[in-house]
Amino acid sequence: MMPEVIGLFYGSDTGTTEYVTELIVKKLKQTVQISVYDIGEYGLSELDNYEFLLLGLSTWFDGDLQSNWEGLFDTFKRIKFSGKKVAIYGVGDQIEYGEFFVDGIGILGKIVVENGGEIIGAWSTKGYDFETSEAEFLPGWFMGLAIDEDNQGGIQSSVSSYG
Ligand SMILES: Cc1cc2nc3c(=O)[nH]c(=O)nc-3n(C[C@H](O)[C@H](O)[C@H](O)COP(=O)(O)O)c2cc1C
Repeated sequence: MMPEVIGLFYGSDTGTTEYVTELIVKKLKQTVQISVYDIGEYGLSELDNYEFLLLGLSTWFDGDLQSNWEGLFDTFKRIKFSGKKVAIYGVGDQIEYGEFFVDGIGILGKIVVENGGEIIGAWSTKGYDFETSEAEFLPGWFMGLAIDEDNQGGIQSSVSSYG
């Protein structure tokens, strides 16, 4: 079933997640209605209005959340996700930060699951070269789409096969 409206919430420090978000939104807008919130500007207060959610973030400083997500994490931990379907995409660097590759996906995803939500859009780890990741919830599977713009081009092809 296609969702009627998706709420997309993202945070970005140097603009990579923002760029990736623009590509995802451009693609999804062809088939669904999507409302986009930069959480640095809008926070998370609108999140509860959506049954279908996309969450986007980068990972920083050896496995930490992107700064806006970090600042709102206590709020995020209190959100009830029951009845919500949630897909997460994360931007990171598997070469420089291979021990913490896209950890942010896993940090958010764990809370979504603990608070009753359903994660959709698991992504194979095939084709990535990293050591460990909080996002790898089952061997060989990330909890969401992992994007490494720092080392791998071809984001357009990842986005077009997402979902
Ligand atoms: C100081 C620093 C620390 C980083 N730490 C991590 C990390 O722990 N894990 C990871 O996957 N990427 C890490 N990265 C890579 C960033 O996530 C990556 O550059 C990303 O594209 C930034 O996205 P943004 O501009 O949307 O914040 C780090 C980058 C820098 C500069």
